Amino acid sequence: MKYEIITIFPEFFDSVFSCGILSKAREKGLVDIKIRDLRNFAEGKHKVVDDKPYGGGEGMLFLPKPLGKAIGAAKEGDEKTVVLLTSAQGRPLDGKLVRELRDYEKIVIVCGRYEGVDERVCDMHIDMEVSIGDYIVSGGEYAAAVITDSVSRLVPGVVGNSASTEDESLSDSLLSHPQYTRPETYEGVSVPEALLSGNHGEIARWRREARIKNTLKKRPDILDRAALTKDETAALCEWRETAAPDYRAYVALLHYPVYNSRLEKVSSAFTNLDIHDIARACRTYGVRKFFPVSPVKGQRELAQRVIKHWTVGAGAGFNETRSEAMRLVEIKNSLEDVTAEIEKLEGKKPEIIATDARIVEKMTGYGEMREKIMEADRPWLLLLGTGWGIAREVLDSADHTLKPVRSYGNYNHLSVRCAAAAIMDRLFSCEF
Ligand SMILES: C[S@@+](CC[C@H](N)C(=O)[O-])C[C@H]1O[C@@H](n2cnc3c(N)ncnc32)[C@H](O)[C@@H]1O
Repeated sequence: MKYEIITIFPEFFDSVFSCGILSKAREKGLVDIKIRDLRNFAEGKHKVVDDKPYGGGEGMLFLPKPLGKAIGAAKEGDEKTVVLLTSAQGRPLDGKLVRELRDYEKIVIVCGRYEGVDERVCDMHIDMEVSIGDYIVSGGEYAAAVITDSVSRLVPGVVGNSASTEDESLSDSLLSHPQYTRPETYEGVSVPEALLSGNHGEIARWRREARIKNTLKKRPDILDRAALTKDETAALCEWRETAAPDYRAYVALLHYPVYNSRLEKVSSAFTNLDIHDIARACRTYGVRKFFPVSPVKGQRELAQRVIKHWTVGAGAGFNETRSEAMRLVEIKNSLEDVTAEIEKLEGKKPEIIATDARIVEKMTGYGEMREKIMEADRPWLLLLGTGWGIAREVLDSADHTLKPVRSYGNYNHLSVRCAAAAIMDRLFSCEF
């Protein structure tokens, strides 16, 4: 594998590539790293490689001409080459990208500095921008070292035993298993028995299970892509309850104050299907209680009869899972009653998250809302509307309004039970 690294600080790499596995790989001729000083491609006595950006602003940019020439020189040869620009705007470097890069014969890496490079160089000479993470480092040399090391580890012969790269963390969307060395007991804690058994089958089974559990504990976000057997998937279903975040979510379905199709404020009627389906979604997504809300006494009494049928009446014995969901339902008179009930249960007022199919000011995205719900030690009330949506004054008094559920088109006329399921899935789903 050949690398050509273009930099204004060639000395940066003196120690980075002269120790450990990479240094040995270079000695054995498995990896060939050439460092090119960008200044050697600059013109004039002062070998200037940068200038101010057009339009003003802080910092300097690499001039296109010396950089274009340096890339041209680095690419020379018949090898299958890719030209990378290290950049925080680039494709995040992960195991998949590292494996893709291993398939090239030569990798040219441009190390940015200052504010970056002239955009025309990107368009004309760069095949891919690569980022080492969502943060800024002061120069592309750090990223170049990471790219070179991670790709070289996959070159046959670089890491002593290729099995050790296959079992490494992230190689197959699983982290590595925990490792132990002597002594057998350290400060009262013993090495797991399976590892001392001498039985290779038992050790392999222990390690595989430990890899899945370790990933569940530390990086559940990558588990979805791991290729698990049917038995492993079934076992994971049991283990994952141990990884469940302790969010405190409630849902209310408002039948007043809502709009009708003429945007008049009205009270809508309970819908049996909504109550059933939203209750089942609430049970699925770990919501603590579901409050259908109506100020109309007759409506509340009707809904109460339905709930009674499924929780203590004939329906309870007929369908136990339905009954389990319906036990979450509590009919309320007003939104104020709902928040008071949650405060009584939780010792804290809930933060209210309103929903609307229309676009209003200051809406919150699902990823951001999910993070808040999972991290904050407080109750949350997700407010769903009926009719043509929740009245303006209620939306305005909510702490957050979620962005409408939609795909790429403009049609998003979902029933409230469909929208509720989509919203709960985005906010509370287990991602693996
Ligand atoms: C100070 S940074 C410039 C940041 C630039 N103003 C921006 O907003 O993207 C200087 C150089 O460091 C490198 N760099 C900074 N952060 C990086 C990251 N996360 N991944 C890869 N390279 C990075 C890039 O080569 C960049 O041109």
